[in-house]
Amino acid sequence: MAANAENNRRKFIAFILATAFVALALYVFYHWLDPVLRAYLAARMPTRMPGGPITEDNLLKVPKLILWSLLAYLGGRALNTILFEFVVRIRRGYEAPTLLRNIVTLVTFTILFVVIFKLEYPDVELGALFTTSAIFGVIIGLALQDTLGNFFAGISLHADRPFQVGDVIVVGQQKHTGVVEGITWRAIKIRTFQNHIVLVANSTAAKEAIEVAPRDNLNARLVSFSTIYTDSPAKTIHVVREAVRDADNVTDKIKPIVRIRGLRDSSIDWEIKYWLDDYAKYNDTDALVRQRVWYALRRNGLTFAFPTRTLYLEKSVPVRPVTVEDQIADRLSAVDIFSPLSTDELRQLAKVTAGHVFAPGETLIRAGEEGSSMFVVHSGRVAVQVPDKSGPRTVAVLTEGNFFGEMALFTGEPRTANVVAIEETEVLEIGHDAMKHIFDTNPGLAESISWTIAERQEDLAKGSAASAQTSLHETAGLLASIKRFFGLR
Ligand code: CMP
Repeated sequence: MAANAENNRRKFIAFILATAFVALALYVFYHWLDPVLRAYLAARMPTRMPGGPITEDNLLKVPKLILWSLLAYLGGRALNTILFEFVVRIRRGYEAPTLLRNIVTLVTFTILFVVIFKLEYPDVELGALFTTSAIFGVIIGLALQDTLGNFFAGISLHADRPFQVGDVIVVGQQKHTGVVEGITWRAIKIRTFQNHIVLVANSTAAKEAIEVAPRDNLNARLVSFSTIYTDSPAKTIHVVREAVRDADNVTDKIKPIVRIRGLRDSSIDWEIKYWLDDYAKYNDTDALVRQRVWYALRRNGLTFAFPTRTLYLEKSVPVRPVTVEDQIADRLSAVDIFSPLSTDELRQLAKVTAGHVFAPGETLIRAGEEGSSMFVVHSGRVAVQVPDKSGPRTVAVLTEGNFFGEMALFTGEPRTANVVAIEETEVLEIGHDAMKHIFDTNPGLAESISWTIAERQEDLAKGSAASAQTSLHETAGLLASIKRFFGLR
């Protein structure tokens, strides 16, 4: 602001000095130089052309015309300042575009020039001078071709107002990017992010596509990164979104979006979409966002992707890391129906179970479908849902160590409910054959399972029809059908 005021003060002093100088020059010319030059020219000029156009009087009018024109130009500028600075800006609070100001100066000057010219050379027909001179027209036309193109493109830019001072734009084939500082009669002035000024001719801009990020708009940016395949998507989304949210200049009006952009050879490619309070600072904010992502991934044990190759060595017996098997056996030992199994039996069972990971919201089991395996929740949570008039009704939430899917497996009936992952969930799948093997060695298992099934059937019946009580009789029936189904004695 202070620099601006200083600048204005300098301009004002320069203006006063220039005006004083031109006025003085006019005074000197009229009072001293005119008689001296007139006498000099009269002595030198040939007397052959009396009454011809070149007389000493006409010659002397030329410097006078120039000086008066200079004064007219300064007057035009003064008028412009009074009109736009004092009347329009200060009184009305409206900032007039530079182009409009230039046009007003030009028109004022032209009018003053014509008036001065007419006063000095009343006999010369100005209109005729312009219209009758075809060569003059061609020269002017050619010389002003670009200038006029820019001028009219500038007018259309002002009328159209596709962007305003302060907006960030990308323009031209070279993709000049920066903050708009102004539009003159010739060009759009952009300050780039390297603090350079780029002038894009109005006529060029009129032909090109212009990308505008308006100042008063919530503009978004995309930043990408990659993680390795073993990192969980749900966790990555959560961690990155939280990290980006409170970075400076990331607006809190819209939550950032973190989404998978592609699945590549050795990476999951991600895209963060976030919105900025001040778009002009997007370079800094992009950098800050990337930095936050690095720290957040590091803190949460997630890994940036790098080119990798996985070699699988096939052996006749599939090898499975012992630690994973141990973990599974550990988990199975905590499931109540498997508590009678020995460590060896648990290990055998762990060998034939398969682990599956589900994303939040994914359906693991659909009511009505056939099913020949049951599941143990290894990590996460699932909801057991039955359809109801007002949408799905949750009858139970099962967590680590709980099992489900046993009803269809042991009775051969269709699945009784939907089972949906509430959060990222890993389940262990146990198939029909594995269970048959366990039943053979642990006949008591079928009974404890039949109790669980009976209880769950009762829960399901409660919601839908008249309540039912689990009776010994029913459980015995269930047990008999399980034995039949598995071919047990
Ligand atoms: P299944 O019928 O094979 O498929 C759906 C599963 O949801 C079912 O086996 C049970 O394991 C489970 N389920 C049904 N009702 C309940 C309940 N009330 N509580 C817990 N789990 C249930």
